[in-house]
Amino acid sequence: MHLLTSEIINEYCEQHSTPENAVLHELNRQTHLQTELPVMLSGHLQGRILSMMSHMLRPKYILEIGTFTGYSAMCLAEGLQENGKLISIDINEETTEMATHFIAKNNMQEKIELHIGKAIDIMPTLDYEFDLVFIDADKPGYSNYFNIVIDKVRKGGFILADNVLFHGDVVSEKPGKNALAMQDYNKKMTADNRLENVLLPIRDGIMVSRKK
Ligand SMILES: C[S@@+](CC[C@H](N)C(=O)[O-])C[C@H]1O[C@@H](n2cnc3c(N)ncnc32)[C@H](O)[C@@H]1O
Repeated sequence: MHLLTSEIINEYCEQHSTPENAVLHELNRQTHLQTELPVMLSGHLQGRILSMMSHMLRPKYILEIGTFTGYSAMCLAEGLQENGKLISIDINEETTEMATHFIAKNNMQEKIELHIGKAIDIMPTLDYEFDLVFIDADKPGYSNYFNIVIDKVRKGGFILADNVLFHGDVVSEKPGKNALAMQDYNKKMTADNRLENVLLPIRDGIMVSRKK
C-alpha cells in the first residue's frame, strides 16, 4: 500500500512502539504468506494504535465490521473490560477460519465472537449498546454501516473508520470508486451534528467520530 507517511518514518515509529506479541507477529506473517490481499491487515503500528485507543476507552462492547484474519479484532480486544466482548463480522469464510485459529492461539476466544455473512444483514440482529465500532469492510458500504450502527452506539461512544484517505486518492482530481465512497463518508461525518470528528492521517487515514 502507498503509505501516507514515508517508509522510514513508519519503521522508526514501529521501532519505538511496543512490539506485536508472538501470535500477532505470526498472524501478520501467515496473512502475507497465505492470503491474496495481505495489505488489508492493519499491521504492527496501526494495531498498536487500536490497542492503545481501546485501553484508553476500556469498552465493554466493541463491534468490528471486516474481520479479515483477525488482526485488528485481537488488537482492539486487548483493551476490553474484564467481562467485555468484541463482535466481528466478515463475509469471507476462509479468512474467518484463519482468524478463529489465531484468536484461539492468542487465548482470546472468550472475548471475540465472529459472525460470517454480509454486514448489512447481521448488524441489525445485534442487540448491544456499543462503546466502540471499527468500520473496515467494503468502502461503498461505510455510509450504510454508519446509518445502521449509530443508534446502537452509546452516548459518548466512538466510531472509527479505516482507509478514509484511500491512499491519498480522496484529494485527487479523478478519485476512483472507493475514494469517492470515502469522500462521501467523510462529508457525511462532518455534516452530522450528533458527532465530533477528527480525521487522523495514520496509515491510510482513520476517521474518529464521537457520539455527543
Ligand atoms: C480491510 S479488510 C479488514 C482488515 C482487518 N480489520 C484488519 O485490520 O486486519 C476488509 C474485510 O471486509 C470484508 N468484507 C467485504 N465486504 C463485506 C461485507 N459486505 N460484509 C462483511 N464483510 C465484508 C472482506 O472479506 C475483508 O476481510
